[in-house]
Amino acid sequence: MSEGLLATVYAPPRARAPWRLEQFLPGFEIRYFSFGRRALAAGLKAVLGSSPRTVLLPELICGDLLCALAAAGASPVFYRVGPDLRPAEGPERWPSAGAVLAVDYFGFPQDLSLFQAYAARTGAVLIEDNAHGLFSRDESGAFLGSRADLGLFSLRKTLPIPDGGALVFRKDDERLRALPQDAFRGPGGLRAALKSALRPLALPLGARRFHGMLSALRGARVPGAGSESALPSPEAPCGLLASPIAAADPETEVSRRRALYLLLESRLRLEGFEPVFASLPANTAPYAFPFRVKEADQERARRALAAQGLEPLPWPDLPCALAARAPAHHRDIRLAHFLW
Ligand SMILES: Cc1ncc(COP(=O)(O)O)c(C=O)c1O
Repeated sequence: MSEGLLATVYAPPRARAPWRLEQFLPGFEIRYFSFGRRALAAGLKAVLGSSPRTVLLPELICGDLLCALAAAGASPVFYRVGPDLRPAEGPERWPSAGAVLAVDYFGFPQDLSLFQAYAARTGAVLIEDNAHGLFSRDESGAFLGSRADLGLFSLRKTLPIPDGGALVFRKDDERLRALPQDAFRGPGGLRAALKSALRPLALPLGARRFHGMLSALRGARVPGAGSESALPSPEAPCGLLASPIAAADPETEVSRRRALYLLLESRLRLEGFEPVFASLPANTAPYAFPFRVKEADQERARRALAAQGLEPLPWPDLPCALAARAPAHHRDIRLAHFLW
């Protein structure tokens, strides 16, 4: 991999002209939060009303997300997910729920037709979880996160900012129009300043140590029952989201992510590793390079990526209640990240 491109994993180019998410989503209202989980909690509180307080989630999901349901007084039910990351069964077999979550895994567009059929039959609210794919669009050009009743973003996963989530809904949605925007924190704060001061160290330190330092800065996150019930702090959204964003250039960001993806795909295929997705669709802005690693090949995968200063990280930390019976294709996903 060329040094120049690898360096952009750690220091994405800044915007030529600062931008607002609103520019990409005309016709939509946006509310900002510190985390995608807080955005989901607020959205569920607003739309569930007297609907059954259950939310239908994919079995392939971070356990942490359950804290949003807990905060909205809702409980989870699940649908199965196949190795292609589509629902493994038709919606007629899914349990009933007041809302259903479709996930655009790693910024790849989920086919929403099954979800739309379920929502039309049951009256469930359809939520498009695009936590991973800021700037990603489907093949028709529609931005992921704008194709359902509610859209969910986790901007901090794409932009070098300390935190940031967003909830997107149509301007004419009566249930959500009155949702207030929480006050923002001061511009960046101490953690943001430390994070950007540390960023130049990322390349010489390598992914593992830099990631460890960032996690320590964020406050150690221990997956498990606690993170499934309590929303993460801080509560107020980061001040950097209150004004136009200069932290990354949208167009350049999509190209750099696609270039990194294709480079890693060719490297890792040569080593015998298979990507999770057969191809990279047009308009997709990938969050990371997701690939499959069998138990016996973990060390080989680690060495293959270490040569690039990167590291394979497992995804997701499954919900505690599902982890023990999860199929192999939920446990062998590894990600090489495009932002540290
Ligand atoms: C698919 C998915 N949705 C939502 C979230 C929640 O985003 P946040 O970490 O900003 O709360 C995550 C978190 O990692 C996720 O992987």
